[in-house]
Amino acid sequence: MDFDVLPPLPRVFGRVVLRRLEVADLDRFQSYRHDPAVGRYQGWEPQPDREVVQFIEEMSRLDLFPRGAWIQLGLAMCASNELVGDVGICIDAEDRRAEIGFTLARDAQGAGLGTEAVRGLIQFIFEQAGVAEVVAVTDQRNVPAGRLLERVGMRKVESLPTLFRGESCVEQVWTISRTAAQNHNAGAR
Ligand SMILES: CC(C)(COP(=O)(O)OP(=O)(O)OC[C@H]1O[C@@H](n2cnc3c(N)ncnc32)[C@H](O)[C@@H]1OP(=O)(O)O)[C@@H](O)C(=O)NCCC(=O)NCCS
Repeated sequence: MDFDVLPPLPRVFGRVVLRRLEVADLDRFQSYRHDPAVGRYQGWEPQPDREVVQFIEEMSRLDLFPRGAWIQLGLAMCASNELVGDVGICIDAEDRRAEIGFTLARDAQGAGLGTEAVRGLIQFIFEQAGVAEVVAVTDQRNVPAGRLLERVGMRKVESLPTLFRGESCVEQVWTISRTAAQNHNAGAR
């Protein structure tokens, strides 16, 4: 066994740890994924337990960053290992950019955990993959998500009128380059 090479996960970002989702997370995962306020601007729909268990098992078998496909990882409190949310990452097939999504349970919001997690996640992606930029797509009405992305140093580069669940809305594209992330983190220290 090579003790010099640490596995990339779990990875601690302040008070939260980024780790693989586990079947033991099922109840917590389901409680926030069935909260309509949490899913309001998200692409996913709540699923029955059986499908979620399959999904978690599938995610735990995936390589860390499959190219051209999404992987979902868990966010847990360092102190208790209790799941507080999850993140999705999709690196394109050309290894040029990574798209991220993020979700926090309602009882974990309002404490800066999302900012800590997304700031750490961006750094982690740049460390682990060769991508030049990380992007996020939000609904303009999702003010907390926009505020979080501004706090982690992302810039809004596009606003596109679209339809989401039958309602007109504006999709906003946010981005941060490798250099901008380094400068942002240096400034945040
Ligand atoms: C997007 C989302 C993660 C933002 O959650 P959030 O709690 O607002 O963000 P953070 O965890 O970074 O917390 C920041 C808030 O905590 C407050 N806060 C309290 N204690 C804090 C601390 N110690 N450090 C930093 N911020 C703190 C901040 O003032 C801020 O509140 P404000 O924006 O009202 O000023 C959350 O709304 C969510 O999961 N929504 C559903 C999923 C979703 O829509 N995801 C985005 C699409 S990909």
